[in-house]
Formats: sequence, C-alpha cells, structure tokens
Amino acid sequence: MALKGRDLISIRDLSREEIEEVLKVAHRMIPIAEGSKIDRRLDGLIVALAFLEPSTRTRLSFDTAAQRLGGRTITIADPTTSSVAKGETLSDTVRMLSGYADALILRHPNEGAARLAAQMSDKPVINAGDGAGQHPTQTLTDLATIQEAHGTLSGLRVVLLGDLKYGRTVHSLAHALALFGAEIVLISPPSLKLPDEVTEHLDQMGAKVREEDQVHRAVRDADVLYVTRIQKERFGDETEYAKVAGSYRIDNTVLSGAKQRLIVMHPLPRLGEIAPEVDASPHAAYFRQAFLGVPVRMGLLSLILTGKGSS
Ligand code: NCD
Repeated sequence: MALKGRDLISIRDLSREEIEEVLKVAHRMIPIAEGSKIDRRLDGLIVALAFLEPSTRTRLSFDTAAQRLGGRTITIADPTTSSVAKGETLSDTVRMLSGYADALILRHPNEGAARLAAQMSDKPVINAGDGAGQHPTQTLTDLATIQEAHGTLSGLRVVLLGDLKYGRTVHSLAHALALFGAEIVLISPPSLKLPDEVTEHLDQMGAKVREEDQVHRAVRDADVLYVTRIQKERFGDETEYAKVAGSYRIDNTVLSGAKQRLIVMHPLPRLGEIAPEVDASPHAAYFRQAFLGVPVRMGLLSLILTGKGSS
C-alpha cells in the first residue's frame, strides 16, 4: 500500500484496502485533531490550498489538518484576490503552486479540472471538488462517520437523498458504498437523478441500487440517510432551480418512523433540507461528520506526503 506521492482525483483511484488504510490512520489522528496529543510529522512541509470555488469545511479542515501535524499552508481562498481574476490559466496557476508547495489541494468549478491539474503538477494533487464531478475527501470523511456510528461499512442500507445529478459528494460516495457492499437507495426530484455515467458504473460493479420516491418509506428501514443540498450554482436556468427548490425536508416527523440506529448525514452547507430541530436528535451525525473531516485529511496528508501511516 503506497499512497506516498500519489494524486487523489477520484475515489475510484483508491482500492478498498487503500480506503481502509486511510480510515485506520484517520482514526488514530482523532486525539491529535482534538488537540490532546501532539504529532508534528508534517514539520517543514507546505500545502497549497487553491479554492477557486466557495468552501468552508473542506478548505478549513485541510488547513487545520496540515497545521495540527506541524505543516504550513498557503491559500487562494478567494479567486478575485489572485491572478486567477486577471485571467491566468489553471495550468499556469498549478505549475507555479507546485513550485511553492509540497502538495496541492484544488477546488474548481469545472469537472475534470483536478485531473488536468495533476498532469501539470509534479507534486501530488488532491481534488477538493471539481464542479459536478467528484469529491473524494468528502467521501473518506463520510465513510469514517458511517464506520464510527455503525462499526462497519458493509451490509448497510444507505439512502442518498437530494440533488444526485449535480451533487459531487454522492457521485463519489455511491462508488465507495458499492465497493463495501452497502445497499443504495436513491431518492431525488425526477430532474435530479444520478447521471447515467454513475448509474452504469454502479451496475458494472454489481451494486445493489434501487430507487424510491417516498422519503417516509425509505427512511423506515435505513441505517444511513445522506441528505444533500440542491446545487443551485450548477443550474443553467433559475426557473429550473425554482421548480425543485424546497422539494424535500427532513424533520422529526419524517424521522419518527426510523430505526433507532439510523444516522442522518449531510456534507453541509444545508439550506432547508434538514430542519434545525433534528440537530438535537440522536440521529443527527452531520456535525460529527464535519469534525471527522479533520482527522481524515490528516491521515491522507500524512500518507501522501510522508508515506507514514499509524504512529
Ligand atoms: C459539498 C461540496 O462542496 O460539494 N460541501 C462540502 O464540501 N462539504 C456539498 C455542497 O456544497 O452542497
């Protein structure tokens, strides 16, 4: 198992064993992420964070992860304040950053941008979200959350609810769930179904996938309810967005028929998809999920930058 020096562009780049290794290292990083243990294994290393699209959790958890391990970061958090605003090409930005830093974390509005960046960079590139494409580090975080709550990733029934067309987190997560033998239940507005490419890929993997149209019914026998935001920024047409906005909402009434062990997840940010009243329910796992983004990214940075797994 050698992640050292590798890019992470799609979750499909990782084998099941490699994902398990990242999760194992991530689990050991929890006390360091909490600040109760010190480990400076990234001392002397610089991580470039190039976020050319809005982000809160992904950027700040990568930044925290690098710094907790003694590394330093350089950041483009707002494209309007960098030469990207002057029209600099992605390829030039990436070439330059790969000369400044030891790894490059890239978020970009265009699908395929991270793969292109990896070709331009002689340092490892990690995809932090490329348009409606992939979001592999969110998936690793999601898997860590599911594993922590359920003790396993196999044999679970996972409902993916929301914008399955443009939501890159579900494109990555669906693959990983199939890899671990989970059963996948899809619910979305009819215009926001999973893209054919993803569905065909899941078929080829022999994944157990079915569609559902009633949230109540799907929730009843689920182990995980993964809710996503409608990706307004990816709609070409405002009126198309208006047709689907607010079409689903999880509240305590919806959850009243759920199994006790059901966890509700969301990559965040949420708009109206999960009522605030759910936050106090034992089902709510989304804030823990956001925290676990830190140890997971610590594990990943450690494996990619130093080759070092568990200490
Ligand atoms: C997601 C993203 O950017 O794809 N957020 C995140 O990284 N936690 C989900 C979203 O924006 O809806």
